[in-house]
Amino acid sequence: MVVQIGSVAHGGSCVARHEGRAVFVRHALPGETVRIRVTEGGEDDRFWRADAIEIIEASADRVVAPCPYAAPGGCGGCDWQHAAPAAQRRMKAAVVTEQLSRLAGLDREIEVEAVPGDAEGLDWRTRVTYAVDSEGRPGLRRHRSHDIVTIEQCLIAHPEVRAIGVEHHRWPGAASVEAIASGSGERLVVITGAEDGPAPDARKLPDLPADVIMAGSGSTWHTETAAGRTWQVTGSGFWQIHPGAPDTLVQAVLDGLRPVAGERAFDLYCGVGLFAGVLADHVGPSGSVVAVEGSRQAAADARWNLRWRDGVRVIEGRVDRVLQRRELSGRVDIVVLDPPRTGAKAPVVRSIVDRAPRAVAYVACDPAALARDVATFGELGYQLDTVRAFDLFPMTHHVECVAILRPG
Ligand SMILES: C[S@@+](CC[C@H](N)C(=O)[O-])C[C@H]1O[C@@H](n2cnc3c(N)ncnc32)[C@H](O)[C@@H]1O
Repeated sequence: MVVQIGSVAHGGSCVARHEGRAVFVRHALPGETVRIRVTEGGEDDRFWRADAIEIIEASADRVVAPCPYAAPGGCGGCDWQHAAPAAQRRMKAAVVTEQLSRLAGLDREIEVEAVPGDAEGLDWRTRVTYAVDSEGRPGLRRHRSHDIVTIEQCLIAHPEVRAIGVEHHRWPGAASVEAIASGSGERLVVITGAEDGPAPDARKLPDLPADVIMAGSGSTWHTETAAGRTWQVTGSGFWQIHPGAPDTLVQAVLDGLRPVAGERAFDLYCGVGLFAGVLADHVGPSGSVVAVEGSRQAAADARWNLRWRDGVRVIEGRVDRVLQRRELSGRVDIVVLDPPRTGAKAPVVRSIVDRAPRAVAYVACDPAALARDVATFGELGYQLDTVRAFDLFPMTHHVECVAILRPG
């Protein structure tokens, strides 16, 4: 059927209507007229999902997708290869604006800022996780599917990741293989074995370029550089994927919080300690930083990365539970909050507000979760001061925000 494409929705599809029903269409752009093929949904469903399979009237923002796998039925990794990079950023801005309006009742104009470290949206992914099929062939997942699409190369991968050449080998016994090109120039392949199968047989693993370290998950670490320091990251532990991300986010957090000597700071969901380290520099020896992280491995890395500084304490545990501890009660001056996609949620927001910080920097990879938590902050007397958005995931619908909240 032929439909007229409306606005972009959270999640990367655009919304169309067919006989009163909403249809979420991939591979289309706002304002286009396209022929669609329905990929999910039946007569009784409230909405359908579909792919645009023929562009009848194209948007001025449409370009030829650089990657041949970014097409209906192809790889699900990129949503917007068919849009010019500036148009991708406008669409991301529209989604953030819409989520803040719908879920937090706030009216904000957003501009999504490009960051250094990609080439027109390509060459930026310093980590790529390939799924491996039962024959040992690596590939990337189809959209909303467990199917694996084998590929010749991934164009959003960093050139150093592409040069490892995971795609060109078989990985018998592996469930997934992650290729990492670290900011310090190291290259690694981290192999995860199938849950119910034997560990991959090292003798059958491929020969890779000589410098590439091959390891099981958790059995090796590498170093990243950011904020003028190096950071140890073990196995597949969290580190921002875009090379421009860590420094950009650190600067946005510092600009928003303006930490000063002697302050008491929290870094919640601290990963390997990036923000805690930078906060420690600013609050100095007369201040203190508490960093909380749920992953044992990442917390151990954070402890190692922050060992140079007295007054920094890394606590391993769930943020909602750790914030209940009596020894951590009392006033806190500044908080960095960088939760996973699900957001911080009301109990964590309440625990932060109870400590009456003068400012909170919320680093968010999901604008809907951000908007929900901003609404909770609002109910508790904290107002959204500024929100900046960054294009840390070009060619995909993902966007990173740094929101600053203050008591209002
Ligand atoms: C988006 S990452 C942020 C990491 C870090 N701030 C950085 O920029 O490198 C989120 C982190 O939260 C951790 N995490 C997820 N759920 C958690 C929870 N309930 N409590 C504590 N940490 C959690 C993850 O292990 C991950 O390291």
